[in-house]
Amino acid sequence: MADPEPKRAGRGSPPPEPRTGGSDKRRISVLLSGRGSNFEAIADAIADGRIPRAEIVAVVSDVADAAGLRRAAERGINAFPIPRASLSRREHEKQVLKILDAFRTDLVCLAGYMRLLSPEFIARYRGRILNIHPALLPRFPGLDAQRQALDARVTEAGCTVHVVDEGTDTGPVILQRRVPVLPDDTVETLSARILEQEHLAYPEAIARFLESPSGEGPCGVEADEA
Ligand code: GRF
Repeated sequence: MADPEPKRAGRGSPPPEPRTGGSDKRRISVLLSGRGSNFEAIADAIADGRIPRAEIVAVVSDVADAAGLRRAAERGINAFPIPRASLSRREHEKQVLKILDAFRTDLVCLAGYMRLLSPEFIARYRGRILNIHPALLPRFPGLDAQRQALDARVTEAGCTVHVVDEGTDTGPVILQRRVPVLPDDTVETLSARILEQEHLAYPEAIARFLESPSGEGPCGVEADEA
């Protein structure tokens, strides 16, 4: 059966002709499922020079009406809804990869992307996929990290930017930022405090990653305290 074309719901333009052929900018694609505040933090950091020589070439979401897609389209960035719907994981990933490849993606940034990537997907972009997680890994991987932190009664929480490997939030850490957990914190108040730090951490981690001597980013660099 032929591959169905990615659905674009009127947003973005077809991928085969990237906009900036010939540019030496690093080409970032963002995968998200929700509001997209980390995507916006990355876009803002590129715009004001904190992530030099980079551009976001595509934003892809498995949720058709994700606010992050709308935010991307408003910034004039190609935004592609690829809803999982009735697709198998393999078929869904095939469609996402088609877009990443068509835009000649150098770096994939997961920013609230709520799907696990298959080993095949990770192998295709090995060492070039980053994720942000709202906990001080290796503690509290997986879902509801802030809830896990509160349940464990820790006094410190934070966020981690790491390279994605086949495990759940297990890849090499690039950078961490810490926040206190206050006695009367709820999931909402703690999440908001962590999110502020995420918006600083992700751009800084991307900049560091892209500046690494190999040009492909460091793996296994030391965690950094905020
Ligand atoms: C963030 O808390 C991030 O750490 C987690 O999902 C959330 C995404 O938020 N992986 P946003 O969509 O970037 O606002």
